[in-house]
Amino acid sequence: MVKRAGGALLLDLKIDPRAPKSMGSQLYAAMRETILSGGVAPGVRLPATRTLADELGVSRTTVIDAFERLLAEGLIVSHTGSGSYVSEALRSERPQPPSRIGRTAVRQREPQISRSMGWAFAHFLRRERLPHRPRAFVTALPAFDAFPMAQWARIASRHWRGPREQTLGYGEAEGHAGLREAIATHLRGNRGITCDKEQIFIVGGAQQAFWLIGTMLLNPGDRVWFENPGAIGARNGLVACGADLVPVPVDADGLRVDEAMRLSPKFRLAFVTPSHQQPLGHVMSLERRFALLQAAEKAGAWIIEDDYDGEFFFGRRPPPTLKSVDRTGLVIYVGTFSKSLFPALRLGFVVVPPDLVDVFARVARSFVPGVPTSIQATVAEFIDEGHFATHVRRMRAIYAERHAALVEGAKRKLGSLLEIVPADSGLHTIGRLAAGISEASAAEEAAARDVIVSPLARYSIGPAQANGLVLGFAAVNPREIGEGVTRLAAALEPLAKRGRRRMV
Ligand SMILES: Cc1ncc(COP(=O)(O)O)c(C=O)c1O
Repeated sequence: MVKRAGGALLLDLKIDPRAPKSMGSQLYAAMRETILSGGVAPGVRLPATRTLADELGVSRTTVIDAFERLLAEGLIVSHTGSGSYVSEALRSERPQPPSRIGRTAVRQREPQISRSMGWAFAHFLRRERLPHRPRAFVTALPAFDAFPMAQWARIASRHWRGPREQTLGYGEAEGHAGLREAIATHLRGNRGITCDKEQIFIVGGAQQAFWLIGTMLLNPGDRVWFENPGAIGARNGLVACGADLVPVPVDADGLRVDEAMRLSPKFRLAFVTPSHQQPLGHVMSLERRFALLQAAEKAGAWIIEDDYDGEFFFGRRPPPTLKSVDRTGLVIYVGTFSKSLFPALRLGFVVVPPDLVDVFARVARSFVPGVPTSIQATVAEFIDEGHFATHVRRMRAIYAERHAALVEGAKRKLGSLLEIVPADSGLHTIGRLAAGISEASAAEEAAARDVIVSPLARYSIGPAQANGLVLGFAAVNPREIGEGVTRLAAALEPLAKRGRRRMV
């Protein structure tokens, strides 16, 4: 025991009489932190309660209260007649807190993470995320301004007035029965997919579906054919599950199956976006679809079909889904409500082939955290009452108008700086940059003018094959699109001039 006439000084204790927390609680928390962080060593005597009360300008009862709480925790011990001491038990080995700079804890070592996640960190997982506020030309956002909030709120509030045993308990692991039924009907009528509701599993967005499928079907190092350029979320999810991605080029007919066979005839999984290749926008031809199905059957591989925005065609009607022509039973279809309704739902679904139903059901029961029942039930009602079909139809017209505003605005103001490739469907398209303008500098200069464009390189594995940008046109109205085009032109013009100067 270290005896000191007046006890430890405890100069760092800060008590604020105006703070909402009581002085006793503040003093207790401050002393606890000081003791645990080694600010007073084990065995050191604390000041007498009266002395500390005088020094801090608080009542003695406040100090006694804090001491009693520390005593009850075993952080200090009290000896009748000789005062209170920091417990000797704190001498024993214990994890040391991370060092601090200001208020921020700084770790000395990088935490150990799995090999696959470490690889994903090194290659794909970026620190920054593109902004997700509606403005020209964010991708991945539907038209919030056109969402029927009143109908949605009415259905959601009706749900909360329902019987408590249906609203408050754990939901079914596979998903809300009414929603699975509604999705099955919708898919039959709109995406050419005939399936039982038992084949449908509700998940927290497509992103969770990719992760789940990867976890269930892949062993570390398994080869996965992946469209290049391709979908960022799916790529990240599969890599984190240990996939060895085989980047396969795409052309106007979709994934180059011949090239994939050359690169890696053995594969365990293929990931494709046949209705609207992400990000280039091509529709996979029927010949390619059959070639892919045949290759998968030969290799004993599964195929993920990501149908993220297939409902929103406004040019030619796209051919039906890959799942609808699949006779091999190898296609796992993933759908999302992030585009067709809104992304805050975090709601998606998987249609699994009959052979996988049992496995998925067991995994869902054991691991899948589930989507709130209130969300699932509201979406089911929204579909059943016909609002979903009306909304999608309305959105097709709105997106067609917004797409036209982008194409026309670009023709007038961007000229050859950025050549917009017209789309037939979806919520985004691509633009080809003039030679001499780099994607990265274009994105940077545009962002400085509050215009968001996404370089194609973000979607590419290895060096990007094309010099271009991905532009969303769904999130803002035609006037804002026009203004966005003007600002984008102002961003690109000086870059083009600089590029031309470099070339002469
Ligand atoms: C290719 C692709 N698939 C699926 C999604 C939807 O993912 P989630 O359902 O997790 O929002 C997106 C979102 O932008 C996407 O770009």
